[in-house]
Amino acid sequence: MEALLQQIEGYKQEIAAADATNAEMAEAFRIKWLGTKGLVKAIMGEMKNVPNEQKKAFGQILNDFKLFAETKYEALKANTAADIATGPSIDLSLPGDAIAVGTRHPLNIVRNQIVAIFRRLGFAVAEGPEIEDDWHNFGAMNLPEDHPARDMQDTFYINQNPAWLLRTHTSSVQARVMETQKPPIRVICPGRVYRNETISARAHCFFHQVEGLYIDENVSFADLKQTLYFFVQEMFGKDVKVRFRPSYFPFTEPSAEMDISCLICAGDGCNICKHTGWVEILGSGMVHPKVLENFGIDSNKYTGFAFGMGVERITQLKYQVNDLRLYSQNDVRFLKQFTGAM
Ligand code: DAH
Repeated sequence: MEALLQQIEGYKQEIAAADATNAEMAEAFRIKWLGTKGLVKAIMGEMKNVPNEQKKAFGQILNDFKLFAETKYEALKANTAADIATGPSIDLSLPGDAIAVGTRHPLNIVRNQIVAIFRRLGFAVAEGPEIEDDWHNFGAMNLPEDHPARDMQDTFYINQNPAWLLRTHTSSVQARVMETQKPPIRVICPGRVYRNETISARAHCFFHQVEGLYIDENVSFADLKQTLYFFVQEMFGKDVKVRFRPSYFPFTEPSAEMDISCLICAGDGCNICKHTGWVEILGSGMVHPKVLENFGIDSNKYTGFAFGMGVERITQLKYQVNDLRLYSQNDVRFLKQFTGAM
């Protein structure tokens, strides 16, 4: 009896000192003391060895001991459960940091709009290389080597091979298309072009153009006018007025530049339209017979029109961007103003 009481006392001390810093430790305590093979069960089993007259008193001691172990277990469990609730110091319900999403570049937005309008008229997109040879950029477009009109486009030549250059206009893609396709041809050619210009608010050493080319039987200047008029109305709205001015390009005859009424001042006169009420937006004309013949297209059977416009200029008019340098400075405060557009 005495030995048994001492053992219980020892166990009680051990239980009192027990600690648990996590749920696994609390569970280990339960298995050790209160499990089916635990020490509390084992000591209960000693009851049968206790003389009858002492059974009542000893039973009381055993029950107290069992309660002591159970109370301790409940305390350990409650502690570690609280640990889990307050333990990690992150609040998982807080909203996360927003990831900055990029936006389309305004020039791409406008290029896509231009392309979409002409696609609806049946024009397909064609592309060509930015590093071109003299023939596709100039020669084939009726600008032979000694032609004074070459001065209109200050050219970057490639040092390793002066026969190569950075294309000065997307008219070079016309040449690439006529080389590989037979009429009827109806293409739109968006792309980057390069000219040796001093960078300023009004000029840059690279910019973007969209070229158009339509070749078929019986294509007339009236088709050219109607196509471009449709484009302007789709791009800028029904109220915009257009006018054609005679001009000169070696690859078209006759040639014309097209102006639209100034969107900034509605024709009253401002800096953008140089107080004329009109702004030029593109060059155009009937494809020169020589250009057709350069590609074996019979100029007695086929006629065509072509045009070329600057994407920067269209964007300037559409969004009132007054400095060309903004397009390539990559200032997100500028770029993100064009979200939501196509
Ligand atoms: N290539 C001309 C330029 O860069 C623009 C142009 C004018 C293109 C008339 C054409 C056209 O196709 O017919 O200034």
